[in-house]
Amino acid sequence: MKRIGVLTSGGDAPGMNAAIRAVVRACIYNNVEVYGIERGYQGLIENKIMRMGSHSVSNIIQRGGTILKTARSKDFMKAEGRKMAFENLMRHEIEGIVAIGGNGTYTGAKIFFEEHGFPIIGVPGTIDNDLYGTDYTIGFDTAINTALEAIDRIRDTADSHDRMFFVEVMGREAGFIAADVGISGGAEVILIPETKMNIAEVAEIIKNGWGRKKSSQLIVVAEGDEIGGVFTVVEKLKEVIPTLEYRVTVLGHIQRGGSPTARDRVLASRLGEAAVTALIEGKNNAAVGLVHDAVTFVSFEDAIHHKKPLNQDLIHLANVLSV
Ligand code: F6P
Repeated sequence: MKRIGVLTSGGDAPGMNAAIRAVVRACIYNNVEVYGIERGYQGLIENKIMRMGSHSVSNIIQRGGTILKTARSKDFMKAEGRKMAFENLMRHEIEGIVAIGGNGTYTGAKIFFEEHGFPIIGVPGTIDNDLYGTDYTIGFDTAINTALEAIDRIRDTADSHDRMFFVEVMGREAGFIAADVGISGGAEVILIPETKMNIAEVAEIIKNGWGRKKSSQLIVVAEGDEIGGVFTVVEKLKEVIPTLEYRVTVLGHIQRGGSPTARDRVLASRLGEAAVTALIEGKNNAAVGLVHDAVTFVSFEDAIHHKKPLNQDLIHLANVLSV
């Protein structure tokens, strides 16, 4: 393999730059030319492809976001767009791509491989940690630490006023962020899509908490929880216990930014390098991941169609520790 392209796609995640850096430097180490593609699959279609060198990735390992920019390309969902992307790749004589992103990125890569037989290796980059085939995704560790810092601050004011706070964290379809942030922030209740909890149960826990003279209560809600977002949860609870004072904070995109933690930088570096080695060795149509601290590969098919399980013990643990 003489030329490899690298792109970031879907929601950005802290550590994507560290992964880009690893891809670029691993290519150079292996005497492979490397090309950066701007705005994910959209840049492939629009021919936004540029040569990268060692200095293109100097001083970026500590930066959040992605220097290559990212997009959720609608055009790449159409066969016509994918054909244009393929033609641009041929024009640049690029023989393989490292695609850093989440489920949507993997889905695009799989279809592209099926249609054009073009080698792609996926690298898991999303704060949600919801990708099958890896214990952790790039960006998750930074996101939970960012959310935790915010929650610690909220706890200070909540405690001072003897108040109850509802905090919504990201996680469109998964509760990994909510579970870890809830446990590390000492939440009284954690609401996530993986466990079904009804409003009556939540109300019971809250009433018991005040009954035990707690000075503050914190309820962490994953945005994808089946009851609805945090505002729906609060609305429904107000119908059951209208007398309490409710305060709501939505952490939102704050969780996506910031300098990546050491753990995310190491993960991104390992996976970026492994993706390049895999392409050189002829692997494709698969994503790299880290399972029990070892680099592994999972087919796009499996990564897309299996739901990554969340350890339900964590939710039990949160209940036990909030007595
Ligand atoms: O997939 C990462 C994520 O941050 C989700 O947690 C969230 O639901 C979504 O992206 C938000 O996407 P956007 O930035 O396009 O609003």
